[in-house]
Amino acid sequence: VVVKANQLVSEVQPTMWGVFFEDINMGADGGIYAELIKNRSFEFLKPLMGWQVQQDFFDEGALQVLNRLEKNTPNPRFLRVTKKAAGGNLAVTNEGFRGMGIKKGLRYDFSLQYRQPAAGLSLSLELLNNEDKTIGTATVQTPATGEGWQKAAVSFTASDSASKGRLRITFTGSGSMDLDMISLFPADTWKGRPGGMRADMVQKLADMKPGFIRFPGGCIVEGFDLSQRYQWKKTIGALDERQLIINRWNFEFAHRAAPDYFQTFGLGFFEYFQLAEDIGAAPLPILNCGMACQFNTSELVPLDQLDPYIQDALDLIEFANGDVNTTWGKKRAAMGHPAPFNLTMMGVGNENYGPQYVERLQLFMKAIKAKYPDFKIVTSSGTDPDGKRFDYLNTELREMKADIIDEHYYRNPSWFLANAGRYDSYPRNGAKIFGGEYAGHSDKVVDGKRQNNWQAAVAEAAFMTGLERNAAVVHMASYAPLFAHADGWQWTPDLIWVNNLQSYGTPSYYVQQLYSLNKGTHVVPALWNGEAVKGQDSLYISAVVDQKSKEIIVKIVNASSRTQTRDVVVEGAAKLNKTVSLTTLGSETLWSINSFEQPEAVSPKTTNITLTGKNKLNYTAAPYSFAVLKLKM
Ligand code: AHR
Repeated sequence: VVVKANQLVSEVQPTMWGVFFEDINMGADGGIYAELIKNRSFEFLKPLMGWQVQQDFFDEGALQVLNRLEKNTPNPRFLRVTKKAAGGNLAVTNEGFRGMGIKKGLRYDFSLQYRQPAAGLSLSLELLNNEDKTIGTATVQTPATGEGWQKAAVSFTASDSASKGRLRITFTGSGSMDLDMISLFPADTWKGRPGGMRADMVQKLADMKPGFIRFPGGCIVEGFDLSQRYQWKKTIGALDERQLIINRWNFEFAHRAAPDYFQTFGLGFFEYFQLAEDIGAAPLPILNCGMACQFNTSELVPLDQLDPYIQDALDLIEFANGDVNTTWGKKRAAMGHPAPFNLTMMGVGNENYGPQYVERLQLFMKAIKAKYPDFKIVTSSGTDPDGKRFDYLNTELREMKADIIDEHYYRNPSWFLANAGRYDSYPRNGAKIFGGEYAGHSDKVVDGKRQNNWQAAVAEAAFMTGLERNAAVVHMASYAPLFAHADGWQWTPDLIWVNNLQSYGTPSYYVQQLYSLNKGTHVVPALWNGEAVKGQDSLYISAVVDQKSKEIIVKIVNASSRTQTRDVVVEGAAKLNKTVSLTTLGSETLWSINSFEQPEAVSPKTTNITLTGKNKLNYTAAPYSFAVLKLKM
């Protein structure tokens, strides 16, 4: 294998390897958004979903959910508690999102909005473990408020851990109190931000050093119908002004059951931008194009009513980048970020296709480019098993001078192996490609879960040599979906699995990470008998140079069951350092997986090896292995 270190084929974009975030599989609520109380404002379909009532006296008016829709549209419901006599037990217990993950010795911050015309009713808290044992207590001070709402808060420390804890709120004394926005957060959020995100999950993203983060999806951008589409303006500002909606992944059936899946938007567009900034990723928001999910209703906005959708796109650019004196820039500043978020691109539509998509897209493109000529628009090209939809739309979108075309492929591992040359013949001029959602779908299904095994990951690694080799046209790529909760998933496979206390990366996670951490700055040829290595003898090879770190980085995937040895010869470079860093990822069997018990069963191992001649290395690739060789110039 000859690597031509001085023949720079193309740049590798800083955005090349990124992440795709969607609130699917409890990715946001119950996942990265660290709120522990489910249905904190009683707005779920059934107002007391997630809450159990304990009452040892009969008074059917003790707990009432009231609705003030006309006065407070985003947050209409609240709970009225009335206790007529001082005796008797009255309590409500929140079950959390599949339980609450509680850590011994950690501080928990409780808060709520309340209204109590006259003092009388008191509120105490008990954190319960899996066996209903108390592992934390606190009393909430709720002095009389008169007619207005007040906030009350208390912090306390958990005396023990629990994977499926719960929070009980007991009412003592007598009187009446209104409650809303009942909240419990751990203190160990990412960057210690109150009301923030789960640090272990964000850390997993930060560890990938992703070039971009795409949000908020996925199908949730589209909604089952347009009333349930994602509307970013309803996800910013004060929490109680963010109107929740049912999640598009709210399912009733079998093991995928999540009839309690809503989007409360505690993780909203401001937080997404902030997350992108924190992890050094370029933000890539995707907006609804005036079409609902085409797998469902296919509801369309008539073209002459598309203006509000287009205005949302224009306003989002102002929200992200506008001066603090602009309408939307001012809102960003009020949320604590006067500096711009440097948004340079946006997707219009997710998996939308057909003439209806194209005619809507044209209107978006016209309006956005008129105001922001350099702003890049990511266009959808749908998804389908034959790739035919990509082909026809690709031609049409290229003719429209699309900036970046988003292609999705969820296919079996053999498809990924066979398609490592997919972009070799794509035109280099004009529209670029975003491999916006992809994952190898292994045939192996256990307990209803398509396995995140090494079979899928090694095929993805092989395919990605083709993305890297074609960095001239492929400017971005991201695996999907990103997160899944072990007790609340709807889609498999996924990149990172979590439960209430732990998270682990799958073999595919480590493949993504190795590419991202070793993306280099320029593609160089890696040839065997003068040709790109894209499956000959089941080997897949690509190479980049990193002009900053002065390294030549060669990626080698052996997708066969045989050990294979090759000479790797670097041409066009001065004498290389004799010591070569070798990182390998692999497993003896294709069926290996990572798990909560063995989170790093398939994970990278780094060692040093030595050149076997001048700028030459004799490398032996283990069966089913992925290797990253770093040669120092
Ligand atoms: O990643 C899961 C789903 O797959 C996304 O929401 C959608 O875009 C695609 O169909």
